[in-house]
Amino acid sequence: MICRMRLGVCILALCLCLCLAAAASPITHPSEVSALRAVKKQLVDPKKNLRNWGKGDPCTANWTGILCTNDLGGDGYLHVQELQLLNMNLSGTLAPELGQLSRLRILDFMWNELTGTIPKEIGRISPLRLLLLNGNKLFGSLPDELGYLSNLNRLQLDQNNISGPIPKTFVNMSSVRHLHLNNNSLSGQIPPELSQIPTLIHLLLDNNNLSGYLPPEFSNLPELRILQLDNNDFGGSVIPASYGNFSRLVKLSLRNCGLRGAVPDLSKISNLTYLDLSQNHLTGPIQRNKLSNNMTTIDLSDNQLNGTIPASFSDLPSLQTLCLENNFLTGTVPTDIWQNMTFSTSARLKLDFRNNSFSSIQGHLNPPVNVTLRLEGNPVCENANLLNVSLFCGSESGEDKMLTNLNNSTVKCPIQACPRDGYYEYVPASPLPCFCAAPLRIGYRLKSPSFSYFPPYIHPFEVYLTSSLNLSRYQLSIDTYSWEKGPRLRMYLKLFPSITENHSSTFNVSEVERIRRKYLSWTFPGNSLFGPYELLNFTLLGPYADIKFEEKTKGIRKGGLVAVVVGGAAFAVSVSVIVTILITRRHDGQRRAMSRKRLSEKVSMKLDGVKDFTFKEMTLATDNFNSSSQVGQGGYGKVYGGTLPDKTVVAIKRAEEGSLQGQREFLTEIKLLSRLHHRNLVSLVGYCDEEGEQMLVYEFMPNGTLRDWLSAKSKESLTFGMRLRIALGSAKGILYLHTEANPPVFHRDIKASNILLDSKFNAKVADFGLSRLAPALEDEGTVPDHVSTVVRGTPGYLDPEYFLTHKVTDKSDVYSLGVVFLEMLTGKRPISHGRNIVREVNTAHQSGMMFSVIDSRMGCYPSECIERFVGLALSCCQDKTENRPSMSDVVRELECILKMMPETESVSSDSGSSYSNSGKLLPPSSTSFVSSSNVLGSDLVSGVVPSITPR
Ligand SMILES: *[C@@H]1O[C@H](CO)[C@@H](O)[C@H](O)[C@H]1NC(C)=O
Ligand SMILES: *[C@@H]1O[C@H](CO)[C@@H](O)[C@H](O)[C@H]1NC(C)=O
Ligand SMILES: *[C@@H]1O[C@H](CO)[C@@H](O)[C@H](O)[C@H]1NC(C)=O
Ligand SMILES: *[C@@H]1O[C@H](CO)[C@@H](O)[C@H](O)[C@H]1NC(C)=O
Ligand SMILES: *[C@@H]1O[C@H](CO)[C@@H](O)[C@H](O)[C@H]1NC(C)=O
Repeated sequence: MICRMRLGVCILALCLCLCLAAAASPITHPSEVSALRAVKKQLVDPKKNLRNWGKGDPCTANWTGILCTNDLGGDGYLHVQELQLLNMNLSGTLAPELGQLSRLRILDFMWNELTGTIPKEIGRISPLRLLLLNGNKLFGSLPDELGYLSNLNRLQLDQNNISGPIPKTFVNMSSVRHLHLNNNSLSGQIPPELSQIPTLIHLLLDNNNLSGYLPPEFSNLPELRILQLDNNDFGGSVIPASYGNFSRLVKLSLRNCGLRGAVPDLSKISNLTYLDLSQNHLTGPIQRNKLSNNMTTIDLSDNQLNGTIPASFSDLPSLQTLCLENNFLTGTVPTDIWQNMTFSTSARLKLDFRNNSFSSIQGHLNPPVNVTLRLEGNPVCENANLLNVSLFCGSESGEDKMLTNLNNSTVKCPIQACPRDGYYEYVPASPLPCFCAAPLRIGYRLKSPSFSYFPPYIHPFEVYLTSSLNLSRYQLSIDTYSWEKGPRLRMYLKLFPSITENHSSTFNVSEVERIRRKYLSWTFPGNSLFGPYELLNFTLLGPYADIKFEEKTKGIRKGGLVAVVVGGAAFAVSVSVIVTILITRRHDGQRRAMSRKRLSEKVSMKLDGVKDFTFKEMTLATDNFNSSSQVGQGGYGKVYGGTLPDKTVVAIKRAEEGSLQGQREFLTEIKLLSRLHHRNLVSLVGYCDEEGEQMLVYEFMPNGTLRDWLSAKSKESLTFGMRLRIALGSAKGILYLHTEANPPVFHRDIKASNILLDSKFNAKVADFGLSRLAPALEDEGTVPDHVSTVVRGTPGYLDPEYFLTHKVTDKSDVYSLGVVFLEMLTGKRPISHGRNIVREVNTAHQSGMMFSVIDSRMGCYPSECIERFVGLALSCCQDKTENRPSMSDVVRELECILKMMPETESVSSDSGSSYSNSGKLLPPSSTSFVSSSNVLGSDLVSGVVPSITPR
């Protein structure tokens, strides 16, 4: 009896358990499961990103890229809510079964390689809010059915090969705010019906084959901020006069649209900021009514406009760019355009008036430095009586650098205290000094900004972005930025963790996920000045590499969103960076494992000509590392002067804690260095690898660094001839590294403080600490022409293309050496008072004022020699790598210039004595090398002036 009752209870309990179990493990709606299987079937997935699709239930077994509802729907099932499959190297086609994901809100396949057409079935997913298929190879036409997505907020189909017309049914997308269909092959008339979408704010249809006319009704769109239609052909139609009635328009871009007729009166559009009507056939005069005070950019170039420049253009306080070149404009060049401008240091104004019929100048032609004016091709240039005019009639432009590095932090923090593995760095703007943290790295692009020059808007942009992300200002660093075709503004951002969280040097996982979602869900508040953005990559490296995003957040159940590199397939940069970093990461483990205690077993390696010193020998040479023998301090550690028992004077670089390498790595580096022998390279005498210490022993260079000679206040300075020979020596040393070292080496950190001078002022290139081997043969047997790395080096010397692509080539060294040449010519630093030496010399050179920037301390020299040297230096500093000479060209040209020098100046540097006419220039004897005024070594020294300075 009891027994049977017990059994009953047991059965009941079992039953209950089963019921509970059923309730506790909900499953995905079966039709969605089958839809996902069908989707997978049509995708090609070479990286096996979707390998877990098919195992178990999509929503509960965490299928990659799938996010589901957290609660059961009315039907007792879980539903797929987001499909986030951006940048997963997927090709293949989109399955029509996608239409069965009836609760989907975000469908994101950005930056893959999908082909085929857009399935019309997607039009059935009525809750869909974001349809993001940009950056694929989709073709075919746009299905009419997409028009029925009445909840759609954002349609991004840009950068595909979609053809055919824009369906009129799109008028039914009654919530759409962003229509990005640019860079496709769409054709036909733009449907005037689009003017009935009250929510539309950005309409980007540029770079298609659209034709017909511009719908006048568009001016009724109450919210429209950006209308961008560049590079279509509306053969011969006019810009509707109604376009003057847009209420909220900020940007109107109709470049190269085949438009005729007059420029409409746009003066009533109160927030208009950016106007580009260039490369059309517009005729008649420019409207004289005053445009909005917010105008940053007016481009009317390459039209057939006549008449004069409206006086109202002189009253636009935010103006950055006024391009009127290649028109039939007449009258005077107004000089009051800049007269009333209040220039902050970051502002600039570019005025391009070339190839018109301007015949006179009004007032004084004396623009401030941040105004660029170009007048070439106007009658006024023939008028030689006008003072100054020729300065603006040259044919070359002082174009801005393509890419800008904003990270010129001058804060001095001990380098060795922040791991130098590429993941961690000092937070540039941190209120806590020398806060070392690992940033999140984000490739970000403004698709259609409303300015043409970024510096004045950098601060507002930083405020905008950080407040949108709920971060503090110092947590963002814009590492680099560059303008791309469009124009679009591409940036490389770093986000750093907050200092308040116990000074943790990394973001926690939920914070990473929060930031990532913020980017991926397009929930930033709109900003008409910055326009729409694109996420190019969101790279999870180093301490973030293993993040899997598995914890739940409110309202949504996560699939296993793997920590992918999100982003532009086109931007292989990030990928290569990862590869490099993964490689260095392996070493990282070794490094940490190594203590200061000497490893018991020494890696044996035969090194010819390089001595293996004992720690004791080093202590003796430096008087126990006495601070009085310290001659420098660099990233690697302290540098000591020392005398070996055989009286050889040496420089000893002693690695500090953070610079210690794994033993094998260290010896590999020494092996590399030991093979490099050239009279223009500082030679390695030996090394010490004992007691957990790592030291490099170099020949001692009694005349210190080139940098110190250039900055010395003394009147006694290097003559022009000496400078030329130093230039030639440096170039020869680097040429050896590029062409004769085996394997070839790119220096990567050439700068004036890495060029050392021996007792006879022979130049020797130093510090291969940042060197990387030049690319070796890859598996396929082809030689890649670059090495991908994280950006390293010194601001002011960095090749702009290297910034952009993170690829080092031999031409990166050519650029840096060109900057050194400019320093030798001007005595200035590469960046001083915020001015870049390359730009400054270029400007002076073009305006014929070269000699105003030449260092006055060089004595006499033939001017044709200096002109050729300037020409060489500037050609080394060309933005485009292909325009720079090779290092062997540089050597050849310098040899030519030296031959042109008069006898006394071209004496071989080996004689040495010819420079020591002043006793102060004599190299110090070997016993006096420890005097602190003697400078040694590359990046090793700061603020020490050579011995000639005392006056
Ligand atoms: C899916 O993710 C949840 C939440 O992180 C976890 O508890 C569960 O074990 C995962 N399931 C599988 C099959 O990986
Ligand atoms: C102009 O822009 C400002 C700032 O974005 C905004 O507050 C204002 O409403 C805009 N005015 C119109 C007419 O759109
Ligand atoms: C400007 O061009 C228009 C149309 O091409 C022409 O009718 C007009 O006469 C021109 N005006 C002047 C001042 O040349
Ligand atoms: C236009 O300028 C006004 C004041 O000069 C400013 O308040 C407004 O925000 C600007 N509008 C835009 C879109 O920047
Ligand atoms: C410049 O400012 C002065 C004084 O404020 C004013 O009289 C003049 O009209 C302004 N010039 C222009 C071109 O706006």
